[in-house]
Amino acid sequence: MPAPAEMILILGGTAEANALVSRLCESVPAARIVLSLAGRTAKPVKPAGCDIRIGGFGGAEGLAAFLREAGVSWLVDATHPFAAGISRNAARAAALAGVRRIAFVRPAWDKQADDNWIDVDCLGTARDALPVGARPFLALGRQHLAPFAHRPDLTPVVRMIDPPEPPLAFAAEIVLGRPSSDAETEAALLRWLGVTHLVCRNSGGATSYAKVAAARRLGLPVVMIARPPAPPPPLAGSLDAVLALLGIAA
Ligand SMILES: NC(=O)c1ccc[n+]([C@@H]2O[C@H](COP(=O)([O-])OP(=O)(O)OC[C@H]3O[C@@H](n4cnc5c(N)ncnc54)[C@H](OP(=O)(O)O)[C@@H]3O)[C@@H](O)[C@H]2O)c1
Repeated sequence: MPAPAEMILILGGTAEANALVSRLCESVPAARIVLSLAGRTAKPVKPAGCDIRIGGFGGAEGLAAFLREAGVSWLVDATHPFAAGISRNAARAAALAGVRRIAFVRPAWDKQADDNWIDVDCLGTARDALPVGARPFLALGRQHLAPFAHRPDLTPVVRMIDPPEPPLAFAAEIVLGRPSSDAETEAALLRWLGVTHLVCRNSGGATSYAKVAAARRLGLPVVMIARPPAPPPPLAGSLDAVLALLGIAA
């Protein structure tokens, strides 16, 4: 178990990283907890009970230098399963600095018996998997849309929280709003929009699963983009498992 004076650095940007801060504040109140964010979000959620640092470290060597200089005792990589670069850096930096590391990896979604998934390994193959003239719902995030500009035969729908600025580089119907956590609400939206395919990444977790459940209800094919390889062990698939690896009883 971390001694009271120890410092735990959490690489975050996920709901689970924020929840881990709260769990650690309860379990080891005297430990110093630092949450690191990449700085991609203008107004990130800032959980109470920790220090927050924002911005990259300058690669694995930069992160290793931070670990040494700040006297970090445990590094918990709780980043998104598709954020492969920072997870790779975390593993290397921990080895360079001789710091104990745990990677939290949220379990992926499993295909259910009545799911119609087209499994692909990247955005390019997701784009190529769509039939001519399809109307896909691209549940991908703005920074992952560029490959679809090469398919002018598609009539895609993109959901965004704010209007795109600058405008998208290709024609798409834009639905403004956040995803619903209710499968029936998501199904009603997909039906109303006349969507023929859902395109998404296998992010796992409950927060964004409703669209996948909605596609199942409607019998829509889902072009499911597989995750990059998981970071090296030790891996934890739940926050309880992270606490157990830290030596803290859940
Ligand atoms: N990828 C996604 O779909 C996704 C979804 C939801 C949330 N997020 C969160 O958004 C952040 C960025 O994701 P990404 O896919 O752009 O990452 P990435 O490609 O794996 O990382 C790119 C660079 O961003 C910096 N970085 C990433 N996460 C950081 C963190 N927590 N603290 C400090 N620096 C960080 C690092 O810069 P240096 O090399 O300079 O250290 C890293 O090399 C992650 O924290 C992730 O948890 C990502």
